[in-house]
Amino acid sequence: MPNPPAPTPPDSPEPLPAFLRACRGIPGGPGDRVPVWFMRQAGRSLPEYRSIRGSGSILEAIADPELSAEITLQPVRRYGVDAAILYSDIVVPAAAIGFGVDVAPGIGPVVEQPFERTADLERLRPLEPELDTPYVLETVRILARELTVPLIGFAGAPFTVASYLIEGRPSRTYTRTKALMHGDPTLWHALMERLAEMAIVSLRSQIANGAVALQIFDSWAGALAPPDYERFVLPHSRRVFEGVADLGVPRIHFGVGTGELLGLMADAGADVVGVDWRVPIDVARTRVPAGIALQGNLDPALCFAPWEVTAEATRDVLRRNAGHPGHIFNLGHGVMPETDPGVLERVVELVHTEGRCDGTIAPEGSTP
Ligand code: CP3
Repeated sequence: MPNPPAPTPPDSPEPLPAFLRACRGIPGGPGDRVPVWFMRQAGRSLPEYRSIRGSGSILEAIADPELSAEITLQPVRRYGVDAAILYSDIVVPAAAIGFGVDVAPGIGPVVEQPFERTADLERLRPLEPELDTPYVLETVRILARELTVPLIGFAGAPFTVASYLIEGRPSRTYTRTKALMHGDPTLWHALMERLAEMAIVSLRSQIANGAVALQIFDSWAGALAPPDYERFVLPHSRRVFEGVADLGVPRIHFGVGTGELLGLMADAGADVVGVDWRVPIDVARTRVPAGIALQGNLDPALCFAPWEVTAEATRDVLRRNAGHPGHIFNLGHGVMPETDPGVLERVVELVHTEGRCDGTIAPEGSTP
């Protein structure tokens, strides 16, 4: 059940939260802050997570709405971040329809019988969120009531989910995935079509229950050459973006190692493109059309350096963004489990105090 929007008196319109404003590239006023959140902000880096997580598979924790909602809220309380991301996983829909996938601690998604042949398509029936993942929707509803910042819903992009289903476990080379893609394009596209529909249905159900923005994780798309991305992946990711366009919520498109793909990822229909740490924000800007917001991109490994180094790297991201209103500060990829949460607290504080989002150019002498 969607939460009805809170009534706002006509003479005092509710200001748009900083995160949603930045997704739209709307300049903030003086004193407004650059929004910041972290991919994997919930999770093993937090002692409060470790103490309530339990020892089972993450899929069991996700199936417990009270627990998942609490885990989602933990980093919002601790860090004062400007957005929450639903505690779930990109393989939840595939697991829920019985494809036979689990998430092994320290490894990642593991599939009993990897996807190989046309007959395996039958193992991918359409997702019915109300029946297959009611616990996810209940978690979203709890969060929509409790959160003071926007909730980001998400799904795995067809390519990244396909890579897990085909490889059977995390891969460095994606050999089976690429062999299937090139060797049997008909089967490849049929698989991608099913995974695109699964993502659309899942994303729509999260928005219907209270999420107000979406991130599509194509984490491993950077393994592909641009022509292959364009031919085998882009049409299906575009289908996902089109399939949620009418909802009117900001859509973030993220991947790792995607420097050569940033333009194509924007082209798929994103409002915001996530950038890893390999491409400086000012360079990334030249690779996407004007009007596209960027999210990123502090190297998560730099959270392990002495604080002054981390602080300078954080400032470098802000400087390179040069006050552009369409910037959401984040890491270039997820928080590593060994990260000291105290460092992330300081990063948030620094971004909030020194970041500019009013459309003015960076302070004197700070242009890289
Ligand atoms: O960002 C968030 O905090 C939201 C929650 C979230 C999780 N996974 C929770 C999780 C999100 C958005 C994901 C997405 C996800 N899952 C991606 C895309 C993002 C990315 O990292 O590129 C991918 C590739 C997965 C698959 C996956 N799930 C991996 C590779 C792992 C790590 C395995 C491990 O144990 O090291 C997981 C497990 C996982 N998903 C954890 C969390 C908090 C840690 C395991 C646990 O607590 O049991």
